[in-house]
Amino acid sequence: MSQRRIIEILRHGQADETVTIQGWLRTKRSLKDFSFIEINDGSSLANLQAVLDATLPDYDSLLPKLQTGAAVIITGQLVASPGQGQKVELKATELVLVGESDPATYPLQKKRHSFEFLRTIGHLRPRTNTIGAVMRVRNACATAIHQFFQSKGFLWVHTPIITASDCEGAGDLFNVTTLDLNQVPKTKTGIDYDQDFFGKQAYLTVSGQLEAEVMAMAFQNVYTFGPTFRAENSNTSRHLAEFWMVEPEMAFCDLEGDRQLAEEFLKYIFKFVLETCPEDMAFFDERIDNTVLATADNIINTEFACLTYTEAIDLLEKSSKKFEYAVEWGVDLQSEHERYLAEEVFKRPTIVTDYPKEIKAFYMRLNNDGKTVAAMDILAPKIGEIIGGSQREERLDRLSQRLQEQGIPESDLWWYLDLRRYGSVPHAGFGLGFERIVQFMTGMGNIRDVIPFPRTPMNAEF
Ligand code: 4AD
Ligand code: MG
Repeated sequence: MSQRRIIEILRHGQADETVTIQGWLRTKRSLKDFSFIEINDGSSLANLQAVLDATLPDYDSLLPKLQTGAAVIITGQLVASPGQGQKVELKATELVLVGESDPATYPLQKKRHSFEFLRTIGHLRPRTNTIGAVMRVRNACATAIHQFFQSKGFLWVHTPIITASDCEGAGDLFNVTTLDLNQVPKTKTGIDYDQDFFGKQAYLTVSGQLEAEVMAMAFQNVYTFGPTFRAENSNTSRHLAEFWMVEPEMAFCDLEGDRQLAEEFLKYIFKFVLETCPEDMAFFDERIDNTVLATADNIINTEFACLTYTEAIDLLEKSSKKFEYAVEWGVDLQSEHERYLAEEVFKRPTIVTDYPKEIKAFYMRLNNDGKTVAAMDILAPKIGEIIGGSQREERLDRLSQRLQEQGIPESDLWWYLDLRRYGSVPHAGFGLGFERIVQFMTGMGNIRDVIPFPRTPMNAEF
């Protein structure tokens, strides 16, 4: 007798084997002399069907308590399944009801629930087919990310979550403080952060990049993969206040090398997930978005489109499409513009490079034209920006100039400037929004449904 996961039984189980499974009851169907129950243990989309009859000890008293959501341990023999779909089912000889579930109040019923409703029961929604499939794909994406970088010799570095610097300069930071908010100590000009926990103002990080650059200057190729936080008040289907970001950083690398790595990286992740989670991906294609598999195929097998920001603006200006936000050289691209390029013009992921310096962060390398920086955004159909990256400004004088232009005191970033004083080299990196790729991969319409516990404005339940 052996304790087995259901996915493994469904893939490799043989008739006559004795197995024990543990999981949660999804459905029950009772006939005159026997009952079928379907058990899910989270290892796969498919349930394992167990057959119970009067030969099972306490069959009559157990049966009414076997309700949707109940936790059970079942031992029995695998038998060839007469029904379609599954090779085997489980003829139960022993059943332990570990945790009952009250059918009068258990909110997950057999019918389909809306994703909005499921968000209100974030503690139970992992037990649904869709969220289950999402979480397995999410796990496979994370595994693919580590495998990709590890196979290339990148060092996984752990950058801090609490920081004193605003990497993106966008100002959408969460403060970290232990000051008593009812009695905040003041100086003549404002809050006295000298008295705060760190002796200065601190935040939750918006990106691990600046510290990743430090590590790249010692280890050449590194990546950080962790939670990041942005207090932007955007209630959209693509923004979270807490999301995960993967950020590789490469020394001795320019924008072209960065772009190539990003494309290879995305292709690798899609390929890995298709191979690891075929049933879950087929489910998304069938139930959520019937372009999911074609999109994956397209990512893996076609070269991404690539154009400059200036060329993109040109295309957008010439387009007959009506946009909500007008475009002209110098404005930031809105998601409607990004999606138009990726979905309608190129019909594949599209890399836009060399944006105006005014709309990008201080650390991006100034191009020779003096107007644009060596930035790249990768735009995905349906999602818009999925990756943001750049070659970094490695020249001390230009970097100082950029900080000054953006009103950032050099004293805040003295250590970052030091990297340009001691062994500075051209270097580049990018950030992939982890939830955005899971969204892209699964076709899920709302980013809140691809992270176990979404954090958005006015919402931090569970
Ligand atoms: O373009 P961003 O702001 O780039 C950076 O933070 C750089 N420091 C990365 C680097 O070069 N190392 O963010 C990177 C990606 C975006 O392309 C997007 O996919 C995702 O992070 N992202 C978000 N995802 C979910 N919710 C949000 N509020 C997000 N903001 C950015
Ligand atoms: Mg960006």
